[in-house]
Amino acid sequence: MEVVILPGSKQIGKLAADAIEALLQRKPHAVLGLATGSSPVPVYDELAARHGRGLDFGAAHAFALDEYVGLAPGHRESYREVIMREFAGRVNIRTENVHTPDGAAADIPAECQAYEDTMKAAGGVDLQILGVGTDGHIGFNEPGSSLASRTRIKTLIEQTRRDNARFFGSLADVPHHVLTQGLGTILEARHVVLVATGAQKSRAVRDFVEGAVSAICPASVLQFHPHATVLVDEAAASSL
Ligand code: GLP
Repeated sequence: MEVVILPGSKQIGKLAADAIEALLQRKPHAVLGLATGSSPVPVYDELAARHGRGLDFGAAHAFALDEYVGLAPGHRESYREVIMREFAGRVNIRTENVHTPDGAAADIPAECQAYEDTMKAAGGVDLQILGVGTDGHIGFNEPGSSLASRTRIKTLIEQTRRDNARFFGSLADVPHHVLTQGLGTILEARHVVLVATGAQKSRAVRDFVEGAVSAICPASVLQFHPHATVLVDEAAASSL
């Protein structure tokens, strides 16, 4: 695991975008793994700016990590909408190449299997962007998630619902259930780039970078990954 400490989110966004730009130049039909939350926003801002200067996403594919269960289709905070608003709608990736799990599917296990199958058919994820929750979750793999888990339904813990309430206006509106790629799924990405900023992430960063590999800290599974890059600001690195 390579840990890079940078002055701020702008520099983090540029470094992550450098990796994505190099990938797209080498492989225009690359498969990107997308994360939501506030941490990757500077990466998407930088990619949108580079698209304005010619970076081409026309042959690329993208898969989101996760989705809420139970939101009305088109809900502003569904991760499909967030991904479209913050990334896909700002570059020239084709909408049909942007995949998100369907949190409204009638048959959830079948939807999760189909999502895995579609990722595999696209050739697997080349570069996965990740954030990390304050409890060490990646995607929506909460503490206690199997290190070998695949895409499935999960129940959010209260801390995560409270952390995400800022997007919904009230805690009561935050769904309890989600679909998420598993830790085993995420580990299959060829390169993972995790971004974390702010002092509220410092404990999670210390635990997954320096602590024991454990389901209690799901991001610690990245210690097994042969090509994991962790981009943090000084506040997020302050407990290392
Ligand atoms: C959500 C997402 C995660 C994300 C986490 C942290 O729970 N499912 O993918 O990493 O939030 O979000 P933020 O970057 O806003 O702190």
